[in-house]
Amino acid sequence: MIAFENVGLRYGHGPEILKDLTFTIDPGSFHFLTGPSGSGKTSLLRLLLLSLKPTRGTVSMFGEDVTRLDQDRLLQMRRHIGIVFQEFRLLDHLTTFENVALPLRVRGQSEVSYRANVEELLDWVGLGDRMEAYPSLLSGGEKQRAAIARAVIAKPDILLADEPTGNVDPGLSERLLHLFEELNRMGTTIILATHELGLLDKFGYPRMLLNDGEMIIHE
Ligand SMILES: Nc1ncnc2c1ncn2[C@@H]1O[C@H](COP(=O)(O)OP(=O)(O)OP(=O)(O)O)[C@@H](O)[C@H]1O
Ligand SMILES: [Mg+2]
Repeated sequence: MIAFENVGLRYGHGPEILKDLTFTIDPGSFHFLTGPSGSGKTSLLRLLLLSLKPTRGTVSMFGEDVTRLDQDRLLQMRRHIGIVFQEFRLLDHLTTFENVALPLRVRGQSEVSYRANVEELLDWVGLGDRMEAYPSLLSGGEKQRAAIARAVIAKPDILLADEPTGNVDPGLSERLLHLFEELNRMGTTIILATHELGLLDKFGYPRMLLNDGEMIIHE
């Protein structure tokens, strides 16, 4: 599903943030991505989201070397990847409902076909009564839940989540982890960046640990 070979990344002329990463991720697996602040978790997720190219090495996804793909194919592939950004990135001019429905709308689905699904998911994440609110009126935790709902609504093949439970209380963060687990059971490959030791311990998935630009996977 994902294969990195001798991947290095630097921003501009800065130091190498990721050094020589070589690893593979099997389809349908669930990994935690962890490591100190500044160790490159978000940068690694940006490589996987195809929004950044490595400075050296090759990244393969869905069996193709993504460093060689043209823009059209990259965009096509990108539709199979869901992401929860660390800073949410909800669209301010759309309501919560519209934000969450967006991935379905860009796939050409009609509101009639998805309204019930979107409402059900919003209920599930506890935003049933905030559907018509614009993001500027939501709390940090509410925005985070909306961002999670948007990332999972289209059942992507790969889900990348960057500290998706950083703004909610521990009870809710566990509940949200169960949502990711359910998606994983339906076949989605998941990489979830987190600092929360409680989650790492409670959910015993393999850990990709970044440190000083290098990575160790603890299965
Ligand atoms: N756009 C950028 N330009 C230059 N340097 C950057 C850029 N984005 C990140 N960096 C640097 O790359 C390093 C890794 O950053 P990154 O955001 O990937 O870390 P992180 O592990 O996600 O940290 P955190 O846990 O705080 O979210 C940091 O030293 C950061 O300053
Ligand atoms: Mg980060």
